[in-house]
Amino acid sequence: MKRVKMYVWIAVLTMMGLSATAQNRLIIEADRGEYTINRHIYGHFSEHLGRCIYGGYWVGEDSDIPNTRGIRNDVVQALKDIRIPNLRWPGGCFADEYHWMDGIGPREKRPKMINTHWGGVVEDNSFGTHEFLDLCEQLDTEPYITANVGSGTVEEMSKWVEYITFDGESPMANLRRENGRDEPWKVKFWGIGNENWGCGGNMTPDYYADLYRHYATYTRDYGGNRLYRIACGANGGDYNWTETVMKNAGRHMQGLSLHYYTVPKHWGDKGSATDFNEQEYFTTIEKTLYMKELIAKHAEVMDRYDPQKRVGMIIDEWGTWYNVEPGTNPGFLYQQNTLRDAIVAGINLNLFNARCDRVQMANLAQTVNVLQSVVLTDEEKMILTPTYWVFYLYKVHQDATLLPVSLTSTKYRHGDREIDAVSVSASKDAEGKIHITLVNADPNNEQRVDTRLVGASVSKVRGKVLTSGKINDYNSFEEPSKVTVSDFNGATLSCDNLTVTLPPKSLVLVELR
Ligand code: AHR
Repeated sequence: MKRVKMYVWIAVLTMMGLSATAQNRLIIEADRGEYTINRHIYGHFSEHLGRCIYGGYWVGEDSDIPNTRGIRNDVVQALKDIRIPNLRWPGGCFADEYHWMDGIGPREKRPKMINTHWGGVVEDNSFGTHEFLDLCEQLDTEPYITANVGSGTVEEMSKWVEYITFDGESPMANLRRENGRDEPWKVKFWGIGNENWGCGGNMTPDYYADLYRHYATYTRDYGGNRLYRIACGANGGDYNWTETVMKNAGRHMQGLSLHYYTVPKHWGDKGSATDFNEQEYFTTIEKTLYMKELIAKHAEVMDRYDPQKRVGMIIDEWGTWYNVEPGTNPGFLYQQNTLRDAIVAGINLNLFNARCDRVQMANLAQTVNVLQSVVLTDEEKMILTPTYWVFYLYKVHQDATLLPVSLTSTKYRHGDREIDAVSVSASKDAEGKIHITLVNADPNNEQRVDTRLVGASVSKVRGKVLTSGKINDYNSFEEPSKVTVSDFNGATLSCDNLTVTLPPKSLVLVELR
């Protein structure tokens, strides 16, 4: 009789879309951390594309929008609050047709160009090297500059490095002084081309590897500025690109990039950012999880040529890519951002943390008003997207020690397909606090995660949660705080056992002290 009652109860819960018992088991080895999670994994990317630079950061000194030397204060403050560690600029595809000398000197004298990749609009070069480096100083973040290999020259890149970083007497350092900047800047991260297998010149890996060596030779370390040269890496699963570039040029680089975007449908019709069903949601998460395989397989190739793991894997473009918002310029890549995007971000960041032995940097595409943004603006208004709140929660992992975890996750099933419902990452910070970030991708079922903490001496638990009523909820200019973080009360600690109950479609940060 009892058993019949239990079956009835399970059937009722199943009909309600809830499961009775979650079987997520997690072990965290709190005393066995080996690798540091490089804070640069939490980096960002901003291109001269649509309203990212113009309108997003740059409004000009005469704007009514509160700004400091032309850069909007609200966006700077929002990004400082999530402690962005680096900012990649000026592209993207734009980088390989950008001539930096057009963006220095008096603004009214700077030449104009056509931004052929992105909407064919006129680029007036009012935001150039000085403005970008001022932005980085205001943000207290490290610049990451990508130089033009596709349509530029070795001389042009070499002079750019000299202009920015040389502290002595030289033609370029003197030109910088004439343009109002006496002291050199420190710029460590330099990308040598972008997507040179595609928009950056349609090159073969052999040709690019030779070109990379040529460029790398003439980009110098001046004074105390030691360059971290990042070679253009593969498009998704192109392991041959990684193989060839590592074999021919691996010893000349400090980093090798990787680009992978989550596109729910296909490049012709990528799917809507806000109007999607569970089928499309499931596919988005499934495609996000492909990142795990990509990292593992590219790392395997890198290991063959660089077993010491000297060369960092730099995932300098990642995120969701949907159809643009209806009625907006197709070349501007403006898309809304829902709770689905937050789940995608949380899973990706957990995957990057897990491979911080090799992944040294990652850059979400793109910070403001383009693709999976953290901030959206409309004239003087600004909103924070669900993805913003993920970076807000996860900032605790920056420069913390990764703790080994072993997770047995229940499955999130849709039709005849299934994926892990739960994703997790744990780290210990300099003060000894343990932070666990958990994602429940399952939109229908809560997940109880029974956790054993090995080697931890903690007695206090608290947390934050990011969730919302619907998976396609988003923040709009009319309703800016629909999807936001709140206190989390679903974690209980008893000796070395921690139980966390994750709401459906949620991200949770647990802090243990
Ligand atoms: O982020 C948008 C574009 O995507 C970048 O310019 C390019 O590198 C990639 O194809």
